[in-house]
Amino acid sequence: MPRLGGFAEYVCARESALALKPASMTFEEAAAIPQAAVIALPGTRDKGKIQPGQKILINGAGGGAGTFAVQLAKIYGAEVTGVDNTGKLGFMRSLGADHVIDYTREDFTKNGKQYDLILDIVAHRSVFAYKRALRSNGKYFLTGGSVATIFQILLLGPWISIIESKKIRILAVRPNIEDVDFMKELIEAGKVTPVIDKTYPLSEVPEAIGYVGDGRAQGKVVISV
Ligand SMILES: NC(=O)c1ccc[n+]([C@@H]2O[C@H](COP(=O)([O-])OP(=O)(O)OC[C@H]3O[C@@H](n4cnc5c(N)ncnc54)[C@H](OP(=O)(O)O)[C@@H]3O)[C@@H](O)[C@H]2O)c1
Repeated sequence: MPRLGGFAEYVCARESALALKPASMTFEEAAAIPQAAVIALPGTRDKGKIQPGQKILINGAGGGAGTFAVQLAKIYGAEVTGVDNTGKLGFMRSLGADHVIDYTREDFTKNGKQYDLILDIVAHRSVFAYKRALRSNGKYFLTGGSVATIFQILLLGPWISIIESKKIRILAVRPNIEDVDFMKELIEAGKVTPVIDKTYPLSEVPEAIGYVGDGRAQGKVVISV
């Protein structure tokens, strides 16, 4: 499996794709970092360019990437709104979210509030709904979501930037070791915590995937080898 990942005792990888695990970190904690944190970092730091005091909304904030995004947005001084299901509201607050929205009860694009930055990990609405929820000069980045929404944003996002001072784009993330090392330093310094909900042995991968699919996981689920 050259690129897509998987679950196994051994993996063959290029040396340039590997980072040293700090002695203070367990293998499970280290396993929780790469994809989730490396999605959250460009959305908040590089493309998001969060400025202190900005209003940021993270859709899917209680999941793997969202838990890192909330913590990073707080480090960069944002006022953070987290959106996820009813069972994850207290969890999002414990990560640092200033406000929380239950997506089963409220649509954040229809409540009249607007944000400087929306980081969407589970996008499924129309591009016009996202435009409505952005302040003037606001930015929306999609990191994951339905195929229909991805295509709509690819096609219409650039037009909206021409007509209005709002940016609506897909955020394509390339895994890279510099970002993993950056996150490693934040975690070692105690500024960010990888959140592991549950650990399963390799023999229980189907149960682990089922647990995530049921919508109960808070943060990451890790396979322990
Ligand atoms: N952009 C890139 O280059 C790139 C690279 C790799 C991966 N990705 C994508 O990034 C995403 C990674 O997500 P992840 O690992 O953080 O997933 P995750 O752990 O499954 O988290 C997603 C969270 O969103 C919640 N959610 C589901 N529907 C929602 C809705 N309608 N409104 C608000 N929240 C909702 C989920 O809660 P429930 O439990 O209720 O479902 C869950 O807590 C995936 O879509 C993946 O395809 C992108």
